[in-house]
Amino acid sequence: MRDCDRRRRYPTTGRPPPRDRLSLVLSLVVLISGGGSNLRVLLEAAQDAEFPARVVAVGADRDAEGFEHAEEFGIPTFSAALSNYESREAWGEALLEQIQVWQPDLVVLSGFMKLLPPSVVSALSPNLINTHPAYLPEFPGAHGVRDAIEAGVSQSGASVILVDNGVDSGPIIAQERVAVLPGDTEHTLHDRIKIVERQLLVQAVLDIANGHIDLKELSLA
Ligand code: GRF
Repeated sequence: MRDCDRRRRYPTTGRPPPRDRLSLVLSLVVLISGGGSNLRVLLEAAQDAEFPARVVAVGADRDAEGFEHAEEFGIPTFSAALSNYESREAWGEALLEQIQVWQPDLVVLSGFMKLLPPSVVSALSPNLINTHPAYLPEFPGAHGVRDAIEAGVSQSGASVILVDNGVDSGPIIAQERVAVLPGDTEHTLHDRIKIVERQLLVQAVLDIANGHIDLKELSLA
């Protein structure tokens, strides 16, 4: 956390604040690839002066549709397309450079559909989290919802995890079950999972900000 964040405490009432009120305001960079509905929930949550996080920039690996949410909220965007770089490592370095301009306390991968190179994971860890539309370690990877439907399970879920160098294999921060209903398609199930995923994400950011979740400790566990 940067020194300047220490000035951005909640307003006090003259009494010592309870533990949660000692939260610092986290600055977030959110990385997306698609529609950005999870991003939007963070942007909306941050409209509440009491919410202890602010999205300072939104990045993507393409000209993502979800940039429109950032623009609506007046948040700067940046992008780096893998195809424009000689190697995944060069792409990762360019992306990292753009992220670091914002000196974020936390980077949130929210529907970001590319694997970050290990050098980027290592530079941002442990302050790097990801959301996933399945109950990890079940159904990791880019098609977690489709895989759950195809496996014929009666329940899947949503998870928020710490990012490591594997595919959706980092320590779990929060997760919740979502029932798979008869007749569910990938689309209908994903829509219901995303409702839970968004709640988990907002709660995880809150818990990280107020110290209920210690990412460093989690990364060492
Ligand atoms: C989320 O379910 C995320 O976990 C998955 O893609 C979805 C992104 O949705 N990888 P959106 O772009 O936030 O609407």
